[in-house]
Amino acid sequence: MSNNLLKGKKGIISGALDSNSISWKVAEKCVEQGAEIVLTNAPIAMRMGAISELSERLNAPIIPCDVTDNNQVIELVEKSMDHFGGKFDFLLHSIGMSLNVRKGKPYTDLNYDWTHKTYDISALSFHKMIQACYQKEAINDWGSILGLTYIASQRVFPDYNEMAESKAILESIARSFGYHYGKQAKVRVNTISQSPTVTTAGSGVKGFDDFLSYASKMSPLGNADADSCADYCISLFSDYTRMVTMQNLFHDGGFSFTGASNDLLR
Ligand SMILES: NC(=O)c1ccc[n+]([C@@H]2O[C@H](COP(=O)([O-])OP(=O)(O)OC[C@H]3O[C@@H](n4cnc5c(N)ncnc54)[C@H](O)[C@@H]3O)[C@@H](O)[C@H]2O)c1
Repeated sequence: MSNNLLKGKKGIISGALDSNSISWKVAEKCVEQGAEIVLTNAPIAMRMGAISELSERLNAPIIPCDVTDNNQVIELVEKSMDHFGGKFDFLLHSIGMSLNVRKGKPYTDLNYDWTHKTYDISALSFHKMIQACYQKEAINDWGSILGLTYIASQRVFPDYNEMAESKAILESIARSFGYHYGKQAKVRVNTISQSPTVTTAGSGVKGFDDFLSYASKMSPLGNADADSCADYCISLFSDYTRMVTMQNLFHDGGFSFTGASNDLLR
């Protein structure tokens, strides 16, 4: 159902790989709510994923960008401005990948080359995207930038591996750049800390199914799914959240503030 919350707005959505991706749902809901969007993902993901189907259906061009290459990030912003005929209003960073998790290396035996790459893909890329927008003054006043994160940035979840530090950096970038971008153009920068969700990135974490069930029992509302996360993103791109910035916002059914749960104790 559309309330046209994003009517007249334009934005970039990264990270839609397949229909399970959180950003896939965000892209669909942005268009449903009246926005015009550009999709982006790493060139390799385009070969693996189904993004062209989404692109055609939503009438949204795909601008390929491997975020480890800063020149490609700058080009992404330039090409998006060309496409929109000027500035745009919102940006979603929905990018994450752990090389150590993928290759089965535990936290106590990290490969540091892979670890650097994980930080680059999953955290520094947020800074690169925001900096490119900031330097090109690409985002309209009162625009909104969002990144997706996970509570392992603040508490220990042993199998989340070096992604924990990646998310801590990501959340810190939202605070620091939120200050600078707020001063420059009233642009807000926030992260959403989402429940565990069944996606390609999520399912890579060891014992993910057990963990999903644990998290659900620890959350009075149950786990938040990708669809409801997308609804929350829409609200944060809309003008109803103009004064919210530099925050890490929990979207987790209450998990983050639950100390003990009867469902688990019983
Ligand atoms: N799934 C979960 O349980 C969960 C929970 C909290 C937060 N998140 C976060 O949500 C975001 C989206 O993940 P998802 O769960 O939808 O999984 P996903 O696997 O669908 O999305 C991750 C995306 O990152 C992209 N990516 C990887 N390397 C890239 C690169 N070099 N350049 C550009 N793009 C690249 C992938 O192609 C993919 O589209 C991530 O930041 C993830 O950490 C996920």
